[in-house]
Amino acid sequence: MHHEEQVRVIRTLMGHLDRGTNVDEGVIRKISVEDYTSTQRAEREWSAFFTDHPQVIGMSGDLPKAGSFITVNDFGVPLLATRSSDGRFRAFANVCRHRGTILEAAPRGERTRFVCPFHAWTFDNTGALIGVPKSDHFGQIDRACLGLIELPAQERHGLLWVHPKVDGALNASELLAGLDQEFETWDFANLVHTGDDTYQTPMNWKLAIDTFGETYHFEKLHRDTLAPVFYGNVQAYDTYGRNHRMALCVRSIDMMRSMPESDWHVTMGAFPVYYLFPNIQINVGRAAVTLVRVYPDKDNPDRSLSRVSFYARPEALAQDPDGLRSLSQGFGEIIRDEDYVVAAASHRGAQSGLVDHFLFGRNEPALHHYHKTYREALGLSALETLG
Ligand code: FES
Ligand SMILES: [Fe+2]
Repeated sequence: MHHEEQVRVIRTLMGHLDRGTNVDEGVIRKISVEDYTSTQRAEREWSAFFTDHPQVIGMSGDLPKAGSFITVNDFGVPLLATRSSDGRFRAFANVCRHRGTILEAAPRGERTRFVCPFHAWTFDNTGALIGVPKSDHFGQIDRACLGLIELPAQERHGLLWVHPKVDGALNASELLAGLDQEFETWDFANLVHTGDDTYQTPMNWKLAIDTFGETYHFEKLHRDTLAPVFYGNVQAYDTYGRNHRMALCVRSIDMMRSMPESDWHVTMGAFPVYYLFPNIQINVGRAAVTLVRVYPDKDNPDRSLSRVSFYARPEALAQDPDGLRSLSQGFGEIIRDEDYVVAAASHRGAQSGLVDHFLFGRNEPALHHYHKTYREALGLSALETLG
């Protein structure tokens, strides 16, 4: 984030604290509980957002060196992503060209050649077919035409983007919209991957996204965990196309009042949380960054999967590796044991048949924006306002 913008964000937060205000959407909106429970809707959003829309699959630190690979199975296409010897990030269907077996089973590792577990056809990490056992018995094939199926892939400002369709359009700069320049300043490309957690939760995936969309709940739900560190119900909020950025207010902002603005860094008094359409949250701390990817269960609107990945600044990791790991783990546990517990309970509320809509308050603008853009993308009508 450029310094001028950092100052603007901190000043916005200080202004809210001084006036006892928060961001104000101006209206309350109603959302039908069917948005979270409808099977038809689940099919529609899966098709639009998870089979035909670019996906962030990780950060550059997931492929730290030439020879690194990861596999992803969260949005229908079995995916193998590699970093080849020229440093390039590539993505392939993780599907052997002989008879379709999944080529690589491990979630991540280092390998420059991939040997199929079925008959040992071998591919390198640029996707080329480089070995066919007993090829004189198998028969003549054109190896050049039997490389792994490559998918559009782009690495930009430390994020790994893939389109799940071979001919899908992928332009990360456009997808980041107004955040493109800001992401450059965060130097995400140099982050070190420190671990992952996966949470399978009995709730619709949009309820998981919603939990990241306001700080109105901090003083109650996170009374003993986040509330001692953050001022709840105070945030700065900005939208960038379909994406948004919330800046949560950290209590240490009070110390910044006696510092010259030129010495301010936004992370001294704020905690930026970015949402990237359709399913990504990026939480940016001074020493560590958390990437959350939320996925529906394709066949069941009542279930979702969250992949939470932790990254650290190399200098911070060198100084205090144990401290950083426990910080990340603690953050993940708050999501799992506090946010997702109440969000799953909201899902049961939605299923009860006794409540037909939920409300988004004036102080929850991220929820308005997320559901507004989601609905627009599916060609649905706008949410009703209350009153
Ligand atoms: S299916 Fe992969 S080598 Fe036969
Ligand atoms: Fe929360």
